[in-house]
Amino acid sequence: MFDNGDLNLFDHDSFADGVPHKTFERLRKEDPVSWSEGDGETRGFWNLTRHSDILNANKDGQLFSSAQGIRVEDQSHEEYMARRTFQETDMPEHTGTRRRVNPKFAKPVVANFEEVIRNLASDIVEKAIMKSEFDAVEDIAKQLPMMMLGRILGVPDSDLDWLVEKGDALIGNTDPDFTQHVIDKVDTDAYRFMPFRSPAGKHLYDYAAEVLAGRKRVDPDGVLARMMLGDDQLDDLEFKNFFCLLVAAGNDTTRYSIAMALHLLTEDQTLIPKLQTGQYWDTVADEFIRLASPTMHFRRTATSDIKLHDKTIKKGDKVLLWFVSGSRDEEVFDNPNQVQLDRSPNRHLAFGQGGAHVCLGMHLAKLEVRITLEELVKRIDFIKAIEPPTWTRSNFICGVKKLRVKVG
Ligand code: HEM
Repeated sequence: MFDNGDLNLFDHDSFADGVPHKTFERLRKEDPVSWSEGDGETRGFWNLTRHSDILNANKDGQLFSSAQGIRVEDQSHEEYMARRTFQETDMPEHTGTRRRVNPKFAKPVVANFEEVIRNLASDIVEKAIMKSEFDAVEDIAKQLPMMMLGRILGVPDSDLDWLVEKGDALIGNTDPDFTQHVIDKVDTDAYRFMPFRSPAGKHLYDYAAEVLAGRKRVDPDGVLARMMLGDDQLDDLEFKNFFCLLVAAGNDTTRYSIAMALHLLTEDQTLIPKLQTGQYWDTVADEFIRLASPTMHFRRTATSDIKLHDKTIKKGDKVLLWFVSGSRDEEVFDNPNQVQLDRSPNRHLAFGQGGAHVCLGMHLAKLEVRITLEELVKRIDFIKAIEPPTWTRSNFICGVKKLRVKVG
């Protein structure tokens, strides 16, 4: 859909050709707390699009609560209770689970994966470029996040394709390329107690039940095994939802960040020679992730009336924090739509920085993006698109889903 600066943020089609950045630019300038109408089923919501407003709201988890849902969809209390993960809780409840999982994802712990990631990335890139023409999303961007997800969870490699397909169906529940149960097109009421209102959620629940019952062996050092041990272990439903969260959150986001980096390399042929100098590796991952901002927003719910700029957000209203817009706010970033490989500081919001829910997997994601690019530019001098990229149809997750390229 052509972005005339006035697209409807409720409509997934507004995002089907990529993020409507002109619309966000106008909203940041003219209407930083804008209202989007809903439809008969889903209530309307507020949009925060400026960096400073998003950061302030994200810091105040009591006023902008996560505990009534984090996506646009309205849920009954029963649906919320059946599907919630620790991402959909506030302090102090959130803090307990977060403390348990944090150590596995801490920067120094993740740094130990560098060699594993490099070996995997180097194999993936070698294999892809042997073909000289290929889909860079399928053959490069998708592969490493999927393999690392397997290692983090501790599940067998042979299950990964299946798990990723299910994760795609969850996250891509508005895109007919990923699911037959497109949430705004068909009746998904039968799945309202499943993650993302998706039948894939049921399949992932079943897998998690096999793990819980000991019929599916998992690596004792992986996150899943860790979450099944100890006095404060999760109950069965919490465990299943936690598993679905990781399959959904740990996969597409990093894929779409790598895919965006590859897309930008095809658009600017000066980037590969610059990367080959080796000067930019400390800053590259953040810059590409800033420009990708694949989880475009998360939702909060106002717990009191809030006056912001010239608007009043009422208690109980839904508020979307548009990280993708804050990460290109011209008040914070020079030339926000351009790649600056040495951008530093880089105060982007793609990981939900500033809030208690800041991305658990961010160090892992950054390492994967950097190492993939390092391994790629060692081996190629150019990458060119041979077809225009296609994008996910979603106002929640943005990404290049297909990018046919040739390399040399
Ligand atoms: C470039 C890749 C990634 C991006 C852009 C991203 C983005 C985000 C964002 C914006 C949030 C904040 C959610 C909120 O405010 O409610 C978040 C939370 C989270 N992310 Fe990521 N993510 C990425 C990769 C990963 C990976 C690789 C994993 C795990 C393997 C992961 C697991 C999580 C989890 C579990 C949470 C919830 C944390 C909490 O509620 O305390 N993410 N992510």
